[in-house]
Amino acid sequence: MRQTGKNINIKVNNIIQSYNDEGSEKAPVIIFIHGFPLNKSMWESQEKALKDNYRVITYDIRGHGNSELGTVDFSIDLFVKDLLSFMDALKIEKTIICGLSMGGYIALNAIEKHPERFTALILSDTNCAADAPEAKEKRMKTIESIKENGVEKLANDLLPNLFAPESFKTNSKEIVAVKEMIVNTSKESLYKSLGALANRKETCSKMAEIKVPVLILVGQEDKITPPEAASAMHKKMANSILQIISNAGHLSNLENPEEFNNQLKKFVDTIYQQK
Ligand code: MLT
Repeated sequence: MRQTGKNINIKVNNIIQSYNDEGSEKAPVIIFIHGFPLNKSMWESQEKALKDNYRVITYDIRGHGNSELGTVDFSIDLFVKDLLSFMDALKIEKTIICGLSMGGYIALNAIEKHPERFTALILSDTNCAADAPEAKEKRMKTIESIKENGVEKLANDLLPNLFAPESFKTNSKEIVAVKEMIVNTSKESLYKSLGALANRKETCSKMAEIKVPVLILVGQEDKITPPEAASAMHKKMANSILQIISNAGHLSNLENPEEFNNQLKKFVDTIYQQK
């Protein structure tokens, strides 16, 4: 029987995974995948905005939030396997998928491998390119810095890139929450995730094969995956819409939830009405 609510545990691909499941069983399903090194609580505002009309599922990627780390090395392929095993365990044959940044890398890989399992795709503040050699090197340096200086320093280094400068005046609650998510992620998970991000493969060359409707959202001031990266993805997918979120950096869903949720709702409502 389906369990509803927050922080439900399920055994998936040899780990205990934590997830939230809200909304009616009969409603269309939307699964949200968070960014690095955050957790499912970053989707709280989207859960609230959608749960009256949709079955909204958010989950903690392994090693993040309340999900177990497991024993094997991380890779985007492993995260995709976790997602598909999770959908199988919940008996979800098809879903709309929404991923932010690392969540978008997972969503893009999942749809490339299993197109039949997804009805639509929302890509938020993400990119289809793999890491350039300098980016890979930076990730290895980040691992060294965590070992030397700890996770608090990592959080302080990441925050100015995750949020737009203005958000430091207007979104202090979200900044505190994100810092907490980062410092609560274990070092082992950070090392393994940075390895997975550095070794991920590109998905740009397969984007023309994506036939389902795609919504691309990006914060106007996103420094990590900027609007140019979003625009490049948009050009590769015939059935895609690009919307730039104002007053937002990389975490556009947290920085401007009103505009983000409006675009999200408009998109999923259109898909639902077409069915
Ligand atoms: C994220 O938000 O998931 C990360 O910024 C992704 C990345 O570092 O490539």
